[in-house]
Amino acid sequence: MAAVDAGWTVIGVDNLEAKVAQINSGSSPVEDITDSQLKAALSRGVYKATNDFSSVSQASVITICVPTPLDDKREPDLTLLRSAATGIAPFVSNETLIVSESTSYPGTLRDIIIPIVNNLKPEPSKSVYFASAPERVNPGDPIWNQKNTPRLIGSIDDASQAKALAFYESICDAAVSVSTPEVAEAAKLLENTFRLVNIALINEFTQLCAASGISVNEVIDAASSKPYGFMPFRPGVGVGGHCIPVDPLYLTWWARQSGQRAEFVESADLINHQMPKYVAKRALSMVDSSIKNPKVLILGVAYKSGVGDVRETPVSELRDHLIAQGAEVAWHDPLVPTWEGSNPVDLGWECDVAILATKQSGMDIEGLIAKNIQILDCTYSITDRNGIFPL
Ligand SMILES: NC(=O)c1ccc[n+]([C@@H]2O[C@H](COP(=O)([O-])OP(=O)(O)OC[C@H]3O[C@@H](n4cnc5c(N)ncnc54)[C@H](O)[C@@H]3O)[C@@H](O)[C@H]2O)c1
Repeated sequence: MAAVDAGWTVIGVDNLEAKVAQINSGSSPVEDITDSQLKAALSRGVYKATNDFSSVSQASVITICVPTPLDDKREPDLTLLRSAATGIAPFVSNETLIVSESTSYPGTLRDIIIPIVNNLKPEPSKSVYFASAPERVNPGDPIWNQKNTPRLIGSIDDASQAKALAFYESICDAAVSVSTPEVAEAAKLLENTFRLVNIALINEFTQLCAASGISVNEVIDAASSKPYGFMPFRPGVGVGGHCIPVDPLYLTWWARQSGQRAEFVESADLINHQMPKYVAKRALSMVDSSIKNPKVLILGVAYKSGVGDVRETPVSELRDHLIAQGAEVAWHDPLVPTWEGSNPVDLGWECDVAILATKQSGMDIEGLIAKNIQILDCTYSITDRNGIFPL
């Protein structure tokens, strides 16, 4: 849509037929794109979705933005990236720019995408240009979007860089030039790893403070009064979504390939994964010990506030720890209709304790407070209320 707004005609190629049909019917599958925005682009004929890869032949710019998840061993899984590169390659025209926007480890463009395209591209397509411009999106963010978030661009040669800069300067307020695709790829991993380790630091610090009866949030507020050299991060149930918990493991894997270890990042991952167990223990300690099977209501199961996305949500581990300790668990999230085969309950569900895991608008927290239900607040969103206990 950012490219459409900048005057480009855009074709979205996706191998999921249901998603193609949904988009072409005018129903947006992306939270930050409204149906009316999508419908306007469809009706003007400047956007359409298709599962026909041959439409790539009409493009002068191709951006690859498929998911880059982890496999069963929690290592990079580039199956979708390889299949997307393989799908587009036979239809790449001469003088086309191919950009990888998917998050991956340094070397992905040069060592994986380029050989696939060069092996399979049509004979007349002699000049093909390649760049890396990692996607920077914060779903649900009312301020930062594709247009006003600067974009990193790193290409394999000067001609590719000039084409990539021209494209991204047309859709973003600022394109930031770096010397190679590997710098852009590594910068993306650094950005998300920066968040992972700082969240882990504050999650660990929370446990130290709580053991001494100190309010971690008051400590963070106090430290935030320093005007330089400090940035506040807040504790929570853990880390969710398909970026922050995933991308740093691309970094740890990449380090291992050259016989090194990213020990600091590995520790951060471990600490964040221990957090749901800690939260479960804290919540159950709020229940009268005579209750053998406490009823626990989890408020918010999406990985963050304002979205209905439950991918990698740490609330799954929280629920599992609660159940393992004998609790009966129910959940409520106005933005999530079903979750891992279960349905939500309403806030009238009788419980012994509630855990505010993810604050969502439309949650009647005041109603729970009025019923004197104790709430463990993992979101730092309710302060100075009776019955609310912050992490
Ligand atoms: N969404 C974000 O918040 C965000 C932010 C920054 C970076 N990223 C990165 O951007 C990339 C894409 O993430 P996303 O959230 O947009 O993914 P997504 O899960 O929304 O998937 C994008 C689409 O790719 C399609 N797809 C999968 N394999 C395909 C193939 N071989 N050919 C054609 N289409 C295919 C899927 O059907 C899906 O519709 C990832 O590398 C991610 O790390 C995402």
